[in-house]
Amino acid sequence: MTKAKRQMTEDLKLIDLVIELTDARIPSSSRNPDIDEMAKEKSRLILLNKADMADEKATSEWKTWFEEQGFLVCPVNSLNRADLKKINPFVREACAEKIERDKRRGIRSRPVRAMVTGIPNVGKSTFINSFSGKASAKTGNKPGVTKGKQWIRISDSLELLDTPGILWPKFEDQNVGIKLAAIGSIRDEIMNTEELSLELIKLLNDRYPGSLEAFYGIRIGEDEKPLDVLLKIAAARGCLSKGGSYDTLRASGLLLENFRNGKIGRFTLESPAG
Ligand code: G4P
Repeated sequence: MTKAKRQMTEDLKLIDLVIELTDARIPSSSRNPDIDEMAKEKSRLILLNKADMADEKATSEWKTWFEEQGFLVCPVNSLNRADLKKINPFVREACAEKIERDKRRGIRSRPVRAMVTGIPNVGKSTFINSFSGKASAKTGNKPGVTKGKQWIRISDSLELLDTPGILWPKFEDQNVGIKLAAIGSIRDEIMNTEELSLELIKLLNDRYPGSLEAFYGIRIGEDEKPLDVLLKIAAARGCLSKGGSYDTLRASGLLLENFRNGKIGRFTLESPAG
């Protein structure tokens, strides 16, 4: 077992609720399903994070799909503190069973304890900071059960472990790697920029035909190869090398940047059906 996984297994013993962040633009590729086995005894809430950058219709399809798998699901934008208020009812629902159990046993319910998990760059730290708010006080170490752990008090009924659990993406699947690289979740050096941009052109033309045409003001023929599209983007944006030929590397960088900062539009690169 890796150190991260061992740590997470230990942390899971301390909590009631797992708040798992996925990236709403690639809700499946940004998950590691190991957590399903590891946290099978826990209440589960999936947050489709960065929903502000994803296609709303696709987000709603993914929400339904995850709900069908038995999860509580909420799309969020962690950069917007007010938006995170909408997860409160989900947290309450996720914890209702525990609170009910405590009540039946006649014990005053202690706050529900939760931890945040997700792959790198999915927004875990942003979420923790935003959800807890800067003013929130750390509760400090609690002797015994939570030795060495810091808890952030969110409300009378909820405490959050201040360090998120890090899950690893499924790198071995090439399609997953491409999508993670496209959204900028893994470093560009891992993949050749031009190859990546050609893959992105394929994905966008497939799922959102017309989007590149509209943004770059180009025409794309029906059987046009991704490289030809890239050359058209280079032409449209004046990406020329010293010799006067099209600079496809610069055009690739530009395309990836425009895609990642949401300039081209809001996109989701996969659907529950595949
Ligand atoms: P991590 O702890 O899971 O590794 O992720 P972290 O919070 O560091 O967030 C990674 C990047 O994602 C940050 O951008 C953060 O601002 C952005 N982010 C997090 N949640 C949201 C969200 O709901 N919507 C949007 N639009 N962005 C979000 P960054 O600091 O600019 O880093 P980078 O993008 O340059 O990697």
